[in-house]
Amino acid sequence: MDSQTRPSTSPQHQNNLSIPKQFVWPDEHLARAHEELNEPAIDLGSYFGADPKAARNAIRLVRAACLSHGFFQVLNHGVDVELIRAAQDCAVAFFKLPGDEKMKGEKKRGGMWGYSNAHAERFPSRLPWKETLTFGFHERCGDAPLTVEFFKSSFGQSYEHVGLVFQKYCEAMKKLSIVIIEILGKSLGIDPSYYKGYFEEGCSSIMRCNFYPSCQDPALTLGTGPHCDPNSITILHQDQVGGLQVFVDNKWKFVRPRNGAFVVNIGDTFQVLSNGIYKSCVHRAVVNKEHDRLSLAFFLCPTEDKSIRAPSDLISKEQPRMYPEFTWSDLLHFTQHHYRADDATLQNFCNWFLSSNNSP
Ligand code: OGA
Ligand code: NI
Repeated sequence: MDSQTRPSTSPQHQNNLSIPKQFVWPDEHLARAHEELNEPAIDLGSYFGADPKAARNAIRLVRAACLSHGFFQVLNHGVDVELIRAAQDCAVAFFKLPGDEKMKGEKKRGGMWGYSNAHAERFPSRLPWKETLTFGFHERCGDAPLTVEFFKSSFGQSYEHVGLVFQKYCEAMKKLSIVIIEILGKSLGIDPSYYKGYFEEGCSSIMRCNFYPSCQDPALTLGTGPHCDPNSITILHQDQVGGLQVFVDNKWKFVRPRNGAFVVNIGDTFQVLSNGIYKSCVHRAVVNKEHDRLSLAFFLCPTEDKSIRAPSDLISKEQPRMYPEFTWSDLLHFTQHHYRADDATLQNFCNWFLSSNNSP
């Protein structure tokens, strides 16, 4: 990408030593991580195997992780490695394109889908050192899949293949999410059909490819600032570079990349569905001097207009209902139009929601 076509706030490789000041984050967000997170790695192969003890053990490990920070990894998940590689290759090839090519599918202000380098238009400071490509997913209903339409209409007919790869990748992620939702339900002692009802065929989810270029001054910036994911669960594939960190026990801890694994984390709406028992934890991504990094994030989202409500089994005198009843579309509206997603989105949303609902 040359300097003519490069948007002025793009984080892509810049030769000068200092990074543009929009990318410099305040000190309080830049504390380093020195420890590894001790999240469990769940072997889904043995969860599905004949030994009921292995399944019970997986459920127990997931419960302990979700009570404390909401992060775990899954292994032997059954997702085809070739499919993962194909999705990674498509994403890297896309991010390596010239800037004007990528900008054809630029994410528009107030829109949710498209290519973005640092959300430069909406916010003037604390920009993330990354480029993203975001699009929606739902299961094929009739004609051309949604992702194929997205790629073709944004970048041209020749992107049909890329759209198909991502459609398949998202289908695999949706299938895996439902398995994880089932485990989460069991781990809370809830009939799994209760939670599955929020993620039936036809409901939309969001896919985001995050590309973090290497950075000449990684100690001053962040690839993704501290935030909680507002959706229900996130399934992240990260390459071997590393950079994902979680805020636990008042410090940042890094999540070691494990070959062939996906990182799963609880998002705000599952925290609500568990009546606050499971944690949607603050996390961020750091960048480094040597390597570009790619992560593929699948955000499982609940049906847009269904009231998000913890089951009554999780409500008691000791643990009364903790959140107002709202829908995913209420929360999306808030993050799109009123609030920059951060580490306090859910609390601020609830305050906003209650006050706007109570106003005359
Ligand atoms: C996200 C996210 C972390 C990463 O996209 O929500 O937290 O390591 N990404 O890319
Ligand atoms: Ni996240």
